[in-house]
Formats: sequence, structure tokens, C-alpha cells
Amino acid sequence: MSSVGIDQISFYTSNHFLDLRTLASAHKIDPEKYYLGIGQEKIAMAAHDEDIVTMAASAAAPLFKDESSKIISTLLFATETSIDQSKSAGVYVHRLLGLHENCRVVELKQACYSATAAVQMACALVSREPSSTVLVIASDIAKYDLDSPGEATQGCGAIAMLIRANPKILTIDPHVGNYTEDVMDFWRPNYRNTPIVDGKYSTKIYLKSLKKAWENFCQSSHLEFNDFQHFCYHLPFSRMGQKAHRHLAKINKCPLQMADIDAQTQHSLIYNKLLGNSYAAALFIGFTSLIENHPSDLAGQKIGFFSYGSGCVAEFFSGTIVQGYQEHLFSDEHRVMLEKRNELTYDEYLALYTVPDPQEGESVVFAPDTTGRFRLAKISDHKREYVQS
Ligand code: CAA
Repeated sequence: MSSVGIDQISFYTSNHFLDLRTLASAHKIDPEKYYLGIGQEKIAMAAHDEDIVTMAASAAAPLFKDESSKIISTLLFATETSIDQSKSAGVYVHRLLGLHENCRVVELKQACYSATAAVQMACALVSREPSSTVLVIASDIAKYDLDSPGEATQGCGAIAMLIRANPKILTIDPHVGNYTEDVMDFWRPNYRNTPIVDGKYSTKIYLKSLKKAWENFCQSSHLEFNDFQHFCYHLPFSRMGQKAHRHLAKINKCPLQMADIDAQTQHSLIYNKLLGNSYAAALFIGFTSLIENHPSDLAGQKIGFFSYGSGCVAEFFSGTIVQGYQEHLFSDEHRVMLEKRNELTYDEYLALYTVPDPQEGESVVFAPDTTGRFRLAKISDHKREYVQS
């Protein structure tokens, strides 16, 4: 059977950001707590005329530069910041991208893990029908209560991937390691806009899940720690990824120096430090960061992936970078998008934080603000209206 995996990968984040030095100054604390302690520099803040739908469509649009979007047989949309309890956000994206009317669309949820489930399901669909192309999108706006410990770990972003046979970027191995446990570390009841978080506990459960998923992965795959050159982790904040990898190295009695262990994750953290947590999208934006920023040719190298979704479900899986992958990246577009962002003052950040929420069917028209390709123009009569920018 031919290999299956990521053929194209593109991400989007908002054009607004808050530097965490500004947040530290407003809170009268040492900025190094953010820059060093949690390893974050900036948080992306969505404009009022963007949401998970517009971010998703903006992430995916570049994938259809050279070929028709009509080829997509299934769109799997992963998110934990859904805009509707019933209708999939993917159905709006289906129209915005001009997908075929015979394309299947569904939304998946399990906190930050769901994009990995989507990728594995996409691989299974492509294995069954090798000529098909599945579009996987993860899109989230990570929002915490003001003045809470999570505030500095906010952010937003969307990732879009084409999953195909004989992929041009990453072949994904069939063996995985899973771990599931019913815990209350981070959750968001339907009536809340922000999550309830037991922060310190969540970091402990993350590390426990890593160990458990890794052990399960080793049993099923027969691969070892030393078989991998690089690792990508779910990134609620970049220091979590660094700590997780040191933990995994210790469990495996890795003889490398700390600097060499850190080098195995270093390039995957770059984008996360600049845009913050993007929940379901974070692991794959981290992978994009690795392949777009690592100075060496990574072709043939084995990558380990750890996906974690609070609540919790975790998965360790692996893949191999394909020869010539550099020809198929959107590195320049991503660099320009990050360079052209607008820095917010603290007051502007607070204004963006308070998103209009017309719960009684009243009409809200949004002034153009996002520089993304799609925007939320209006919410009226409980309906969201999306347009091309
Ligand atoms: N200079 C340098 N470092 C400093 C510092 C300073 N002036 N002041 C503090 N620090 C360091 C601390 O020593 C600490 O480092 P260690 O972790 O190595 O001990 C680090 O900064 C963080 O400081 P605190 O321990 O005081 O922690 P906090 O109160 O800022 O909260 C947090 C940290 C609990 C992770 C909080 O950010 C949070 O609740 N975040 C949201 C939940 C989260 O992201 N959990 C992660 C696992 S769950 C998950 O992954 C799913 C998801 O996406 C949410």
C-alpha cells in the first residue's frame, strides 16, 4: 500500500498581537515570567470580524492556488471553540472555499486533541480510497479570564492540511499510542465563553499522559526514543513543550546533554511563541514551525508527535519527512503574515477581548478590520454572515 500523510500545510493567525511585555507592565510583574517562565512573547488577538470560520478559510485558501478545491472528498474541522452547538463550522468553510457539493463535512471535538483524530481519520479515508484528498482544518481562539494565570497563554490560529497518498511533506506511520482518562483539568461548560482551568494540575496530567501514550506507542510501533531526530508537542505555551520533551528524554534515560535535548524541539516552538496557544491547531502549527525554520534538510528524518487534549485524550504518533518537502511550503507567506502584524496597546487589547455577543437575535455589523481573506460581516437574527474581504 502507498504511504499516506500531509501533502500541503498552511496556517493563519490574526493580524493583531499583544506583546506580553505590555501585559506584564499592566499587571506590574516581571516580563521575564512570560518570556522565560512560560516561554511566550506575544499573543495573537482575533479581530471582531474574524472567528474560527474565517481563520480556517484563510488558512486553507492558499492550498488551492494551483488546483481546484472541488477535489476535496471530505472536510474534517477540528475545534474546541465552536460557534454553534449543531451546525459544523466546516459547512461555512465549504461555501467560502467553493468545495464540491458532494464533499462530506463534519466538526470534531476533544479539546486540543481533535486535530490529531481528524488527521488519523483522514489517513484511514485515504487508505481506503487512495485517489481521494481529505482537507483537515483545526481552528481555535484561546481565551482565558482576564487576570487569570491563563491570560498570558491566550492566542489564536488555524491550520489547514491536505491528506493524500504519496504525500509531499510527511508520511504518517500507522502505529500510534493512546491514553484516555476522565479528569477535570480544563473544560468549558456550554454556558461559558472562557474555560475553567486547574492550571498546575493540567500540566501534571499533560506529563502523565505523555508517559502513558509513549509507553503504548512503544508497544505498538517498536520504535525507540533514539529513532527520532525531532519532536513536536501540543503547545499551550512553548515552555510546556520544552518541559515535556525533557521529561520524555528522562523517562528514556537519554544520554544527550540538555542543550541537545532542547535542540530536538527548539524550531517547533518559534511560531507558538509569537502567536500563543491555538488549541487544536497548536501541534500542527508547531510542526510547520519546525519544517519552515530548521536550517538543515530534514528529508528522511523521523518526527515524534505528542497530541494532548484536556479532559483528557492523548496520542503519540510518528512520521517521516519526505524528500523535496521544501518545495511545497508556504514559508514566505507565513513570514510576511507574522511580520505585518499590528501591535496592540493594552486598552486596544481589552477592547478586542470583549467580543460582541448578540444573544437575543439583535443585529451587529462588524467594521472591516481583519487582513485575512475572509471576514465575518454581520450577525443578525442569530445568523452569521461571512464574506470575502
Ligand atoms: N523570571 C523567570 N521565570 C519566572 C519568573 C521570572 N520573574 N517568575 C516566574 N517564573 C517561572 C516560574 O518559576 C515557573 O517556572 P517553572 O514552571 O519552571 O516552575 C513559570 O514561570 C510559571 O510560573 P508559575 O509557576 O507561577 O505559574 P503561573 O501561575 O503563571 O501559571 C500555568 C502557569 C498554570 C501553566 C498557567 O499559565 C495556566 O493556567 N495556563 C492555562 C492552562 C494550561 O495551559 N495548561 C497546560 C496543560 S493543559 C493543555 O495543554 C491544554 C491546553 O491547551 C489548555
